[in-house]
Amino acid sequence: MMRLKQHMGLVSSPTPAIVVRLGNNTPHRRRATRSRIVSSSASDAAPFEKPRAVVKKVLAQSQPEGQGATVRRSIGRHELRNLDPFLQLDEFTVSKPAGFPDHPHRGFETVTHMFEGAIIHQDFAGHKGTIRTGDVQWMTAGRGIVHSEMPAGDGVHKGLQLWINLSSKDKMIEPRYQELESKDISRGESEDGGVEARVIAGEALGAASPVYTRTPTMYVDFTMRPGSHLHQPVPEGWNAFVYVVDGEGVFGRETATAHYCLVLGPGDGVSVWNRSTRPLRFVLVAGQPLGEPVVQHGPFVMNSRAQIQKAMEDYYYGKNGFERAGQWSSSA
Ligand code: CO
Repeated sequence: MMRLKQHMGLVSSPTPAIVVRLGNNTPHRRRATRSRIVSSSASDAAPFEKPRAVVKKVLAQSQPEGQGATVRRSIGRHELRNLDPFLQLDEFTVSKPAGFPDHPHRGFETVTHMFEGAIIHQDFAGHKGTIRTGDVQWMTAGRGIVHSEMPAGDGVHKGLQLWINLSSKDKMIEPRYQELESKDISRGESEDGGVEARVIAGEALGAASPVYTRTPTMYVDFTMRPGSHLHQPVPEGWNAFVYVVDGEGVFGRETATAHYCLVLGPGDGVSVWNRSTRPLRFVLVAGQPLGEPVVQHGPFVMNSRAQIQKAMEDYYYGKNGFERAGQWSSSA
């Protein structure tokens, strides 16, 4: 992402970011949806009144990002500017010494989902942690986070990072983290065992996530064995997409392989088949659209140009949530 010049700002003491570790004992806090809820299933008959079809298919092509890293961007490319409330989707691949050194965020959330290797995360409020294979970090940047995201150790480090917009009333909230370790992610399974769901937000195949989504969101990591199929409800009125991580699947009537982002049209659910001879892995993500103006300048996403100008000033002068920006630099 775009790096902005850092400056020695005025120093005061902001409230440190709230960190929530989501273990098995965390109470479930989910937003109820008004839509009709049908249990996900793997039976033959599609249970949907209005099955969702693929309306757009975008190949995430590699582009340079951060310092020496590459990302495959789908949402956020010119073909798919944004998909309210989603701003950007990057599949990243990073090896030392490349990485994503110190940079700010304001006005949205980032969800980092590791597929391979690990990323060390450090922020200007003293929060530090390692996101390992299968782990998820749900970061609400709110009014301001400055952080670094760097590979931990040698080898290749891969994952997905999704940017979810915050509504105008939530853009300036205090930063917050929700951290899910791989072992604590709820798993659902189809009756025949052909489909596994790792539920990062929302619910699928009888499993539910404890993640609190300020902008109502579902995010499920599915693995389907050859010959299996799935009918997954998706709340009506929400924007939804599939990102294929590995293998080949049929989504509605559209066949897609790894690195394709498929935008789903309106409807109450999506049907997926794995007719290949290899396992299929994909994420299904849906969110309630905000319907607000989106003005983005690199890592700042607000509702107006004036608010972007303010964000840049706040970052530059170390104000309104960026108090620690000037004196901090990561140790990675
Ligand atoms: Co970042």
